[in-house]
Amino acid sequence: MAHASSLYCPHCVTERQRRPLDLSLTCPHCQRQWPVLAHGSDFIPVLLPDVAAAGRMVALCDTLLRQPDLLIRWADSEEPLEQALAGGLLTYAQAHFGQYCDPPLATPDFAWMAAGIPQALPDGDVAIVGAGPGGEAWALRHVPVLAGRRTWLVDANLAALAWGQLLFDNGLVALPYRSSATRIDFGTATLPEPAPEVRWLCADALFPPFEAGSLAVVITVGLLDSLADPFALIQQVEALLARDGVWLMAAPYNWQNRITPTKLQCERHLGGGLADGMAELLTGRTVPGIGTDLQLEWRDDDVLWRLQVHPRYTAEYRMQALRLRKVA
Ligand SMILES: C[S@@+](CC[C@H](N)C(=O)[O-])C[C@H]1O[C@@H](n2cnc3c(N)ncnc32)[C@H](O)[C@@H]1O
Repeated sequence: MAHASSLYCPHCVTERQRRPLDLSLTCPHCQRQWPVLAHGSDFIPVLLPDVAAAGRMVALCDTLLRQPDLLIRWADSEEPLEQALAGGLLTYAQAHFGQYCDPPLATPDFAWMAAGIPQALPDGDVAIVGAGPGGEAWALRHVPVLAGRRTWLVDANLAALAWGQLLFDNGLVALPYRSSATRIDFGTATLPEPAPEVRWLCADALFPPFEAGSLAVVITVGLLDSLADPFALIQQVEALLARDGVWLMAAPYNWQNRITPTKLQCERHLGGGLADGMAELLTGRTVPGIGTDLQLEWRDDDVLWRLQVHPRYTAEYRMQALRLRKVA
């Protein structure tokens, strides 16, 4: 378990004297031992803040990898975790890699992403958070400034990560997709070249298991408005970035009350228009203590993001993409 020493206990994330997990992923502070999914070329640590939930996630995904057809049952399951794991995998396996499927499936355009990465970065790892099956890492695989850096693909959905790992390990995989509102089919996705080397990590973005100041780049696409506390995410990213490190973030600001309580929907704290207002909020000019260390370097207010749910239903989002640099 060569990289365990750079990961931290998500349960003790706020403890001042926390130390890295040991080689068996045990926390020297609280003694909790974290589970792993061990199906691919490397294990996937599962560092969700609740160790029992982490164990349950491993058991579920272990079963899914042995019986991929279970996905069809999970998509219709009344059990929320099974449904969420299946839903995320179905949407993002196609969105990220559908173009390599036989026959090809509709995918959004990832080309804008490389333009958001700067020429200069400090030393440090890269974390793509809310990465699903790994499409951002694939889209950025030829960006020189990222070459040779340890790249963490982080998501709370272990099924999506495990599927991405199968594809990156083998260069091909059975790709599940919705062929209609009620039907799920499998095609074969084959990558045209070897996948980049990455580390897969199941963790909660609000309890990130990294050392403060250790990351040169954090990338979050579609995450800010997909979690319970976007303000906490902003604070976590600020804390994780090294000085001069960069946060590339994009979001359609599609706030949903069932995910983000209304008072935490950032947009409700803005004075003026949405795009300028979010740029101001994320650079410390709206809410005290939020984004104060971040400076805006680049923005594109109109990034089109089309997600095909099934061939007769495509959701079209317009994201705002911002590159923010940590200046203090
Ligand atoms: C809207 S999807 C975006 C996926 C991908 N970045 C993209 O843009 O295609 C949001 C992703 O964030 C993950 N996610 C949501 N809340 C999370 C959290 N608290 N911690 C880690 N991942 C989370 C979901 O599982 C999902 O894969």
